[in-house]
Amino acid sequence: MEASSTLEQEAQALKHLTEKRNRGAPKTKITFRKLDIGDFDRGYYELLANLTVTGDVTRERFEEQFNFISPATSHTYKIIVGIDDEKDKVVCNGTLILEKKFARNCATCGHIEDIVVHPDYGKQGIGGDLLTALSEMGKINNCYKLILDCAEKLEPFYGRQGYKYKGIQMAKI
Ligand SMILES: CC(C)(COP(=O)(O)OP(=O)(O)OC[C@H]1O[C@@H](n2cnc3c(N)ncnc32)[C@H](O)[C@@H]1OP(=O)(O)O)[C@@H](O)C(=O)NCCC(=O)NCCS
Repeated sequence: MEASSTLEQEAQALKHLTEKRNRGAPKTKITFRKLDIGDFDRGYYELLANLTVTGDVTRERFEEQFNFISPATSHTYKIIVGIDDEKDKVVCNGTLILEKKFARNCATCGHIEDIVVHPDYGKQGIGGDLLTALSEMGKINNCYKLILDCAEKLEPFYGRQGYKYKGIQMAKI
């Protein structure tokens, strides 16, 4: 039998995580899936505004960027969102970027970016589940490590998910 494709494995993993979370009778049922072009109308920018400066992005510009990145089929960008199905709203976002290397036998390093949970949905374990989803994407894509930058106050949050303090971040803006 032919092994299922990476994209199929990712879809399965997100489905399992969604089922697992919702079986536990959480305060809010969440569906984890890849970013969809329709998420522009599900409050995607309202969500991102809780993370950083968003700018005044039109639907046209969003769609242009979406089509360039192609989140449904991209082998580089794994953009995972959580949807409150009852309200048809995007309530969290996390991105895994797959960096292909020549070193380490042509290995893949995963970079975690843009983790955000809408404040109305905080402290319900959604952020933790989102990190689990990204870890699963990393496993499926054979990442030898996952790395991320965060504020010092978030060390316990990431620490609970197995991330350890390592070195410092340097930025040039
Ligand atoms: C950081 C962030 C992603 C956490 O999201 P979250 O959904 O609240 O995360 P969780 O619910 O999984 O965990 C948060 C806390 O709630 C607790 N918690 C988890 N499930 C819970 C539940 N069912 N009931 C009560 N508390 C719960 C966790 O123990 C955790 O405790 P801590 O604050 O001591 O770490 C979110 O606050 C956020 O988006 N912040 C703004 C943007 C940001 O800083 N992003 C990170 C960039 S690096």
